[in-house]
Amino acid sequence: MTADLASGPPEGARPDWTIDQDWASYTPEEHQVWVTLYERQSALLPGRACEPFLNGLRALDLHGEGIPDFREMNRKLDALTGWTVVAVPGLVPDEVFFDHLANRRFPAGRFIRRPEQLDYLEEPDIFHDVFGHVPMLTDPTFADYMKAYGEGGLRAMRLGRLHNLARLYWYTVEFGLMQTPEGLRIYGAGIVSSHGESEFSLQDPSPNRLGFDLVRVMRTPYRIDDYQQVYFVLPSLQRLLDDTLQDFAPIYAELARLPDIAIDEVLAEDEVFTRGTQAYAKARAA
Ligand code: PHE
Ligand code: CO
Repeated sequence: MTADLASGPPEGARPDWTIDQDWASYTPEEHQVWVTLYERQSALLPGRACEPFLNGLRALDLHGEGIPDFREMNRKLDALTGWTVVAVPGLVPDEVFFDHLANRRFPAGRFIRRPEQLDYLEEPDIFHDVFGHVPMLTDPTFADYMKAYGEGGLRAMRLGRLHNLARLYWYTVEFGLMQTPEGLRIYGAGIVSSHGESEFSLQDPSPNRLGFDLVRVMRTPYRIDDYQQVYFVLPSLQRLLDDTLQDFAPIYAELARLPDIAIDEVLAEDEVFTRGTQAYAKARAA
């Protein structure tokens, strides 16, 4: 999300920081990276990802034949929820990002990772942005949430609470889990686009898995360098939308008085799905 607004968009980008996807210029090697990642994840995700995600993959026809052409994908996505995907050169400034979301445009990188980076990369690429994020945008409730989040982001910036709101994005849009009658399922884009975390988030005994609570989430820092130490579990997407439709100004005022909660802490009032051992995080820190 973060890049410098003052310096303006990079050369070749439009004032809103978008560029053409230029689908025709992807190389066969680049398409092959998509195919490899796609095949790995689509074999792993049935029974792990939530139904709205799996349905979205199908509805968009994000098949394994190569990098999707945004023009085709957008026709299907727009017809379903009014969202479109726009290509950007990389991370964009917060206000640019939020303005796109508020207008139902999802900014996605056009570049794809190199074959030697299949498992780890520092900046989101087209596989994370499109395979990870776009299927959920076919769900009408989630689609409304993302639009509202964009408007909320602009407001949080004015109120000086963006660091709190960013945690909500992280623990829902990127790393969210959902409770279903069949068990816990993934809806977060950072998980579904990661081979390792798709298993870790659901099965590993290390992380805490706690019931979603809006204010609690906004008090919890997150890590950007490794698997999460805590995941928050939603009862439904409707609950996410309902909780976030309220006015956040009083919540931000409360957050200004409340301390952060340590990343591995379990509070007496938490709904505990798993009390994690934190063994993974401890081993990595040693
Ligand atoms: N309702 C929030 C506000 O008043 C905005 C928001 C919507 C934030 C959706 C996050 C997600 O600021
Ligand atoms: Co993302």
